[in-house]
Amino acid sequence: MEKIIILDFGSQYTQLIARRIRELNTYCEIKPYNKFPHGEEGIIGVILSGSPYSVNDPQALQCDLSEIRGRYPLLGICYGAQYLAHTNGGRVASSKTREYGKARLVWHDDSDALMKGVRNDSIVWMSHGDSIIDTPDSFRNVGSTADVKNAAYRIEGEETWGVQFHPEVYHSEDGKVVLSNFVMNICGSKGAWTPASFIESTVQQLREKLGDDKVVLALSGGVDSTVAAVLLNKAIGKNLTCIFVDNGLLRYKEFENVLASYAHMGLNVIGVDAKEHFYKNLEGVTDPEKKRKVIGKGFIDIFDQEAHKLKDIKWLAQGTIYPDVIESLSITGMVIKSHHNVGGLPEKMNLQLVEPLRLLFKDEVRRVGRELGITQSLIGRHPFPGPGLGVRILGEVTPEKVRILQEADHYYIQGLIDNDLYDKVWQAGAILLPIRSVGVMGDERTYEYVIALRAVNSTDGMTATWSHLPFDFLGSVSNEIINKVRGVNRVVYDISSKPPSTIEWE
Ligand code: XMP
Repeated sequence: MEKIIILDFGSQYTQLIARRIRELNTYCEIKPYNKFPHGEEGIIGVILSGSPYSVNDPQALQCDLSEIRGRYPLLGICYGAQYLAHTNGGRVASSKTREYGKARLVWHDDSDALMKGVRNDSIVWMSHGDSIIDTPDSFRNVGSTADVKNAAYRIEGEETWGVQFHPEVYHSEDGKVVLSNFVMNICGSKGAWTPASFIESTVQQLREKLGDDKVVLALSGGVDSTVAAVLLNKAIGKNLTCIFVDNGLLRYKEFENVLASYAHMGLNVIGVDAKEHFYKNLEGVTDPEKKRKVIGKGFIDIFDQEAHKLKDIKWLAQGTIYPDVIESLSITGMVIKSHHNVGGLPEKMNLQLVEPLRLLFKDEVRRVGRELGITQSLIGRHPFPGPGLGVRILGEVTPEKVRILQEADHYYIQGLIDNDLYDKVWQAGAILLPIRSVGVMGDERTYEYVIALRAVNSTDGMTATWSHLPFDFLGSVSNEIINKVRGVNRVVYDISSKPPSTIEWE
């Protein structure tokens, strides 16, 4: 398969480069800066990413380009461009007139293959303290900004370019044109990587890899595990058994509804009602991290127990996606993901792992899911934490509190759907607070629970802003919850963003 390799020197934008290239229907992979997959088939071009380092730092990341340069078309971005200049006898330094943020690019040579169609004076995004002050003779300058002379260059006699700016960032007006020139024209990508082609090649690979082996997969009702299951089902049919555990912390009627849609899709699913097991283990547990551990362990125990009833299982399938893979490869080690729900499962079960989505981003998983014919109600679902309502019931979890929260959450989410607001927020949910407040219903004084409503807008959950839901909508949902959910007499709306708050309350 045709692919572009991105060597990652630790820039915050490396994932974005990958996204932009995949938007050109071209497959690409991010590799650590010193792990080029020599000998791999299908490589049509290479990109060197930016980096938090200066090329002059003693700890600056180095890579051996001798087997890459001249062999594949090469594009250095920011640090990548500076690295090429620095290691060829050029001079890179932190100049007084360094640029951060927006600058305007002026082309000197519009016949250059990388610059074709880029508008003169278009805005580009700069984000590094250093600039290339002097270039070796073989470097031909093709673009400058007001303060940076060598904003873009080509190495004569080679298919090698360097750009000081970040074409992958939206602020770079014609950045997409630059990347498309490189990927489509210079590297010669056919642009054939689409959801349909991904499905076809993955199904083929899964058949070869798994043969007649039996596979077990944990379904959660979420997008990733559902798409993974449907893909595997297409490849190996009844040799795939899925297990869906009701931990008693799912949303209103979720177990029944999701099981019905899975059956409708032809999946071989075992539904396990383990509510009592979880409620019992959660008795008296109030600390959020302790709750996560109890719920995670409960899941592993139940899943393991059910999977052992099946015969001859050789593989455990998981819906791991690309951001999880990249995070675990992160070279600077700065990204920390704390939400691993079932880490430890593969080790405990002693099975081989199969992860058909491990190279896809979330929105690509959704596109593949649509192509597979999975309904929008499953594909477009908001993210939901693995520990479920367990981290939305503050303090101790009891079956009665679960009932109250499930009902309140149901009226809230249904209200969002009915008012065309569901797809306008990234995630929404209700939270049950561990306090009661005084109210009055009819002539009676009440003393009941408070429900908090949360809705946020975000792209990846790492940062989030609270959603400005219409007051009329909030008013009617509040009325509905207080009138219909026994045990609640007050509803509040959370207007905190992340950071400094988090999306979940626990
Ligand atoms: P926070 O609360 O950290 O949430 O701002 C960010 C995103 O992660 C989800 N989340 C979890 N997901 N297990 C999960 O699978 C967890 O323990 C967990 N905690 C939070 C949260 O719903 C949001 O989408």
